[in-house]
Amino acid sequence: MSKNLLVANWKMNFKLPEATEYVARLEERYEQDEQLEVVLAPTTLFIPTLKSALSGDKIQLASQTLSAPEFGAFTGETSCAQLAGLVEYSIIGHSERRQYFNETDDDIAEKVKFALGAQITPIICVGETAQQRADGQTVEVLTKQLVSALDSIDASQVIVAYEPIWAISSTPGVQQATPGIIAATISEIKQIIANISSAQPPILYGGSVNPDNLESYLKIPEISGALIGNASLDVEKMCAMIEIAKRVEQ
Ligand code: PGA
Repeated sequence: MSKNLLVANWKMNFKLPEATEYVARLEERYEQDEQLEVVLAPTTLFIPTLKSALSGDKIQLASQTLSAPEFGAFTGETSCAQLAGLVEYSIIGHSERRQYFNETDDDIAEKVKFALGAQITPIICVGETAQQRADGQTVEVLTKQLVSALDSIDASQVIVAYEPIWAISSTPGVQQATPGIIAATISEIKQIIANISSAQPPILYGGSVNPDNLESYLKIPEISGALIGNASLDVEKMCAMIEIAKRVEQ
């Protein structure tokens, strides 16, 4: 994938009218660019409505998670089979899913396989806590997460998002990651993947990305785009970030 990917992770934000207005404004403002893919990850509930509201394939949709079994007695869940055809991508293993919903590396590995089976490209999130980094465990943590998630799949079919938990805007005491730290850690991620796979997936960066720092992140050669939470909730900021991504790729 030579293009940049900007993924807006809306998390549990917006009511439906706000979401549809956002999409209308974004579609109006965003002039499609061959080298850029713009993806919105709304709450699952809004996906069919937004899918109908979107014209053409200018903007793609992602789910923020999915459930591995295709059908069954799993109250409250939405499966890969139900999302198939509605989303191109699914964010899998976000740190908030790991932390608040007790998703394990095994759960995430299973979801990755089911997503691929449903023709949904998984965006696999990995990242360490501040404590793990301070204790020198970053490579160990990333290795465990990646080895599990990429086990017996074709890594060229997935996207990896490096999201250091300490840099996610909702983390208490959040710190912005410097391009130097991100570049060094992504090199380590590439090495970990090279040890287990002949394919290298595109790697996104996520963690307090905003219009002020996006350019410095996208200039890191190993980065293929960004996963954006808080700043993506403001459509004007999202439009500004799209313009930055278009400029940086030139
Ligand atoms: P943030 O969120 O941009 O608000 O830090 C990123 C994420 O959690 O995916």
